Amino acid sequence: MKKVVITRKIPDAGINLLEEYFDQVKIISDGDFCNRKHLLNEINNADALLCLLTEKIDKDVIDAGENLKIIANYAVGYNNIDLEHATRKGIYVTNTPDILTETTADLAFCLLMAAARRIGEAERFTRAGKFKSWGPRLLCGQDIYGKTLGIIGMGRIGTAVARRGASGFNMNILYYDTSVPENLSFSAKKVELNELLTQSDFISLHVPLVDATYHLIGEKEFSMMKPTAVLINTSRGPVVDENALVKALQQKILYAAGLDVYENEPEIPRTLKTLDNVIITPHIGSASIETRDGMAEMAARNIIDTFQGKVPEQLVNRDVLK
Ligand code: DGY
Repeated sequence: MKKVVITRKIPDAGINLLEEYFDQVKIISDGDFCNRKHLLNEINNADALLCLLTEKIDKDVIDAGENLKIIANYAVGYNNIDLEHATRKGIYVTNTPDILTETTADLAFCLLMAAARRIGEAERFTRAGKFKSWGPRLLCGQDIYGKTLGIIGMGRIGTAVARRGASGFNMNILYYDTSVPENLSFSAKKVELNELLTQSDFISLHVPLVDATYHLIGEKEFSMMKPTAVLINTSRGPVVDENALVKALQQKILYAAGLDVYENEPEIPRTLKTLDNVIITPHIGSASIETRDGMAEMAARNIIDTFQGKVPEQLVNRDVLK
């Protein structure tokens, strides 16, 4: 009798697949939170865990799952999972890459445009009945076409954002990464971080959250940016020092920001919510119906493959195979 635990309800596409293969599919919560005590209890006799980025899958959870063979994350980022500990215990960890690349890149570009053209502010202005007359300087923002876009982290999503900028908006692309992406369909220049920060009109973050990227962007980095620069973050909140960001926005060291992620989600600093030069969304990078369905199927397939004796396609801790 095999049991899969799902921490919070995911789209039916994934649940239906799992129900075909497993005797017991236990969904802990159909709400916004998964109770940790409940999780620790249920994982005890589970063979597989499907979790969301909202759950911390730390040593205690992993140790409680004595029969666990796989932890399938319903996200591409997996900083919520103690990967090393899972690997030590011989447990597969999988994620959901590729399927969400274009959807997340759409959101990043959407935030870029909204922040540059002050869409949030303009919408609030219009709804408040303040639109009295067309004005030569009414809600003027920054041009996007032909500007310089700096991508920090030229992986799948970073490349997809750069492609939008290069082919749709004739943007000059700079990128900072430790590796060089293959087969780019547009021209892009690899530069050091400092050059990217000083030269870019738009800076979009696409790095995973690891020790080396924690607070990668802070006070010093903001001071190097153009005062007309716009920062976009759809990666992970802690990549940016949020206090320094609030200061930079308040003091107009930075022109604007478009944020989908925050340091202590779901909390958002009160001051940030009062600033007009920031557009904020609630971590919806991959939130299209098709993509979320696809992520559910992918996570379920990784679990099913594992129990069919295959190496799951989206295995992230390859060391576990050694
Ligand atoms: C991810 O997959 O890591 C995103 O942040 C969630 O959509």
